Amino acid sequence: MVNILSRIAVAATLVGLSAAQLQIISPGGPDLWWVAKSINTLTWTCQTSPFQTYTVLIANKDPKILPAPMAFIGVQNNFDCSKSITPDQVNQTPATGYTIQLADTLNSTNIFATSQEFEIKALGAAYPTTTSVPAGASGSATGSGSSPASTGSTNSKSGASGIADAKVLSGFGMAAVGVVLGLMTA
Ligand SMILES: *[C@@H]1O[C@H](CO)[C@@H](O)[C@H](O)[C@H]1NC(C)=O
Repeated sequence: MVNILSRIAVAATLVGLSAAQLQIISPGGPDLWWVAKSINTLTWTCQTSPFQTYTVLIANKDPKILPAPMAFIGVQNNFDCSKSITPDQVNQTPATGYTIQLADTLNSTNIFATSQEFEIKALGAAYPTTTSVPAGASGSATGSGSSPASTGSTNSKSGASGIADAKVLSGFGMAAVGVVLGLMTA
């Protein structure tokens, strides 16, 4: 029993140190918007994600704009780290209050992470010139060059100001402890 408790303590410490979690880096917040009828970039913290695949949805807090979250990628691999989203995939009306959700592929109401609210600006608006990269994302999440307007102007902003607030499932902490315990006892 003591052994188990000490393992849990060690595991909890490991989880705390590794800070394994999934956050949507872009879009989200006032600086990282999308542009309607254009190719936009979705970026997430693949290096710290405890999940391997997602269903990707777009939602809006105003049901008049979007009555329910709409899935536009059925199965997205975590290791891609970012994805160019075409107007065929997301063709939403310009508005504020949108969020992107990364959800369980088997149950899209089981949401792993939600982006900060963001705006879809009208066609013709400039793309964001700043791509935020969180400390854990080691620079490979700077998008895939799909934004013509941002060519040559994409900056890696150090610091955490652009990190989305991810909604982490309440059960995630224990699940992560279980994973670590599984690894330790393997
Ligand atoms: C889907 O996920 C939600 C949120 O975690 C949960 O409440 C619901 O029971 C799940 N549905 C199924 C069929 O597992």
